[in-house]
Amino acid sequence: MTKPKTMTIRKALGLKGTLRPPSDKSLTHRAFLFAAMAEGGLSRIGNPLLGEDCLATIDCLTETGADIEIFDDPKPFAIVARNTPWTSPDLPLDCGNSGTTIRLLAGVLASNPALHATLTGDASLSRRPMRRITEPLKQMGAAIEGETAPLTISGRLLTGIKYMSPVASAQVKSCLLLAGLSATGETWVSEPSLSRDHTERMFEALGIEILREGDLAVGVRGGQKLTPLDFNVPADISSAAFFMVAAAMLPGSKIELQEVGVNPTRTGVLDVLAQVGVTIEMRNLRDEVGEPVAELIVSGKSDLRPFQISGALVPRLIDEIPVLAVLATQCNGVSRIRDASELRVKESDRIETVANGLRAMGAQVETHPDGLDIHGPVQLKAAIIDANGDHRVAMAFAIAGLVAEGETTILNAQTVETSYPNFEQDLKLLTELA
Ligand code: S3P
Repeated sequence: MTKPKTMTIRKALGLKGTLRPPSDKSLTHRAFLFAAMAEGGLSRIGNPLLGEDCLATIDCLTETGADIEIFDDPKPFAIVARNTPWTSPDLPLDCGNSGTTIRLLAGVLASNPALHATLTGDASLSRRPMRRITEPLKQMGAAIEGETAPLTISGRLLTGIKYMSPVASAQVKSCLLLAGLSATGETWVSEPSLSRDHTERMFEALGIEILREGDLAVGVRGGQKLTPLDFNVPADISSAAFFMVAAAMLPGSKIELQEVGVNPTRTGVLDVLAQVGVTIEMRNLRDEVGEPVAELIVSGKSDLRPFQISGALVPRLIDEIPVLAVLATQCNGVSRIRDASELRVKESDRIETVANGLRAMGAQVETHPDGLDIHGPVQLKAAIIDANGDHRVAMAFAIAGLVAEGETTILNAQTVETSYPNFEQDLKLLTELA
């Protein structure tokens, strides 16, 4: 059993320095999965994120017959090959804490008639909704038992559908596009607003034609094959966001975050920082296999304005809302977050875990079915916060601890390992203590 991990954080004067945040989680999952599907050559993945979520994807792919080797010289890289056909695993495939692993893999397995597999996960993942993928996959002809993990899947030849997803979810969209690659006919997914488009970009870079109708509907024609890839994973803007917010809240701070993925479907955090009055300088914008990458320079500021998050902005920053809620406590007025009921079905119910933690630190917060109102500015006070095993909640409250009086303790923070194994070291590196 893993030991419950505790973080203790003291008030900071500011943040200074340069950091290359950990590699992007969404892109690492996709790079390994797509490389394991590609036939006829080796794929090379530079700088993969080797946090627990992505290791779960790697293990599941190895269990189903992919050859994956990880090297560490001079920087980590992986070589992936599909030398033998996919095999049905003897034991359940453990997706750990990772929604991306279970939802994307389900699409691949359900559409491969040779396969039979069960997908399981930890307690948090087993609570998360899977009907959002099992429903449309069944409409395509899939044989799946279970509405939450464990899901037992018997692969079938699927038929393409036109699916209108009720939620803006890249995991749903990617699951169906992956299933569509080996289905008959065309598979289309439309969503209420645009979720991250990494799958579409990487598919196009790997020789798959993406069909489009307006901004919100994408599709694939069945029978297409992915080709091997050579991809250097950029840093994760969702991990960089913790330090962007910390620097923004502490006047006098100045940090440079290097090699950050700035795909426009992920940069909502920059829009919110602009709303509060913090502008981020973007330098050396370049391209890595269809994904924009840049250096981001953030300087702290006083007199922050409150912000509003709703509508199409929500999927562009869904994972950053816990730390943006912390930022709201330092803004002059009420910040409002709406249309974000998806937060209730993340690794924890993030509306409740964030509200409870902020209240424990002295903030005034109202919750709504789909969001939060947060009053600022307030001098936060240190508290003991239970992260409920949610990595982004743990890290958001570590950032709150930097502006709180006293020493903040975060309990059950072991899941920072899922997305940011070096979080505490990087925080120490950048922080100047008060
Ligand atoms: C992810 C998509 C988002 C995000 C998650 C990773 C992905 O979830 O919250 O951390 O890799 O596709 P949804 O697609 O369910 O919104």
